[in-house]
Amino acid sequence: MRLELAKVLVNQPDVLVLDEPTNHLDLPSLMFLENYLINFKGTLLFVSHDQDLLDRLAKKVLYLRDGKISEYTGNFSSFLEQHALEKEQAAAQHENINKKIEHNQKFVDRFGAKASKATQAQSKQKAVDRLKSMQSTIEVEGKQAAPHINIPILRQSVKNVLTLEGMTVGYTTPLIKKINLMVQRGQKIAIIGANGIGKSTILKSLIGEISLLDGSVNHGENVQLGYYAQSQLDQLTLSASAFDNVLESNGLLTEGDIRRILGSLLFKDQDVRKPVSVMSGGEKSRVGLACMIAKNANTLLMDEPTNHLDLISQENLADSLVKYAGTLIFVSHDRRFINRIATHVLGVKSNGQHLFVKGNLDAFFEDAERLNFDLMQ
Ligand SMILES: Nc1ncnc2c1ncn2[C@@H]1O[C@H](COP(=O)(O)OP(=O)(O)OP(=O)(O)O)[C@@H](O)[C@H]1O
Ligand SMILES: [Mg+2]
Repeated sequence: MRLELAKVLVNQPDVLVLDEPTNHLDLPSLMFLENYLINFKGTLLFVSHDQDLLDRLAKKVLYLRDGKISEYTGNFSSFLEQHALEKEQAAAQHENINKKIEHNQKFVDRFGAKASKATQAQSKQKAVDRLKSMQSTIEVEGKQAAPHINIPILRQSVKNVLTLEGMTVGYTTPLIKKINLMVQRGQKIAIIGANGIGKSTILKSLIGEISLLDGSVNHGENVQLGYYAQSQLDQLTLSASAFDNVLESNGLLTEGDIRRILGSLLFKDQDVRKPVSVMSGGEKSRVGLACMIAKNANTLLMDEPTNHLDLISQENLADSLVKYAGTLIFVSHDRRFINRIATHVLGVKSNGQHLFVKGNLDAFFEDAERLNFDLMQ
């Protein structure tokens, strides 16, 4: 990702079109990009689900809904305010017209058949028709469909979930060395560190996708792992549908179970039969989540789960992970997301060292400063 961005920026363009540029970026790269874009003199058109970036950069927001684009001046927070106000006003106007329709309709229903009031009833009927047509021009935007993520557990694990002893991970040479850690049931551990440092490699080592270079990992009794990969291209069968991918994750599920899981992630009716290969980035991520949920696992390993998810889905996922009764180890660069969920933070850096701290990011950085552990060195 950093390389792709560097290729675009080095040409000093006048117009930049960026599609979710902050996905996958570590914090220093994100800050560099943000500064570059704030000082960029040309025109910038970008798509993003990153609320901070949207607030810092956008001078105009184009809101897409039901095939229409509406334009709002100001940044993202200003858009949210304007949009909420518009929705409120439209709903009040709608309600007001409704009351007038009801009032006139009552008269028509009561006196329509009476000869003496026929002319009055006719004009009231005309008023009803006019009000209804006026009402149909007011768009009242319903609540945007939001996923309802629920991650069930079939059987809880024992208290000592994973025991890492001198765990050293890497491909040919060690990336992260000698991790000693007892992962306890219910802990929510965030793994943080720069791009390319070995965070995904740790998760892949824990699920057994790659072998350890040294040390050991012991799984407690009943530990069932659910895994969400950083790239869904690594995890999903692209030629298969969402339905078949979920079935592949857990062959014991009924059609109803699968439709329920996919429905909670907003895949309706025929959508569940669409091949993953033609899906958007966000849709692929939701299929990946469905496959993980389908496993009913009591221990989740998730690699940058908010990449590609829209803001509502990110919030919803955070809520469900806070509520999740099992154990969670996740990689993320998203400060807001980490601080909502993490009970512990594992920071990893380029010399292979690591630091494990109880608490959220603030607690981690406090300890890191005290111990002279510079995450980005
Ligand atoms: N299959 C592989 N074979 C050899 N080296 C690999 C392989 N996959 C990754 N690497 C290397 O291992 C290092 C760590 O990669 P990893 O994907 O764990 O980084 P990361 O910390 O997850 O980074 P990011 O924040 O960018 O996701 C990188 O230098 C990467 O190039
Ligand atoms: Mg990674």
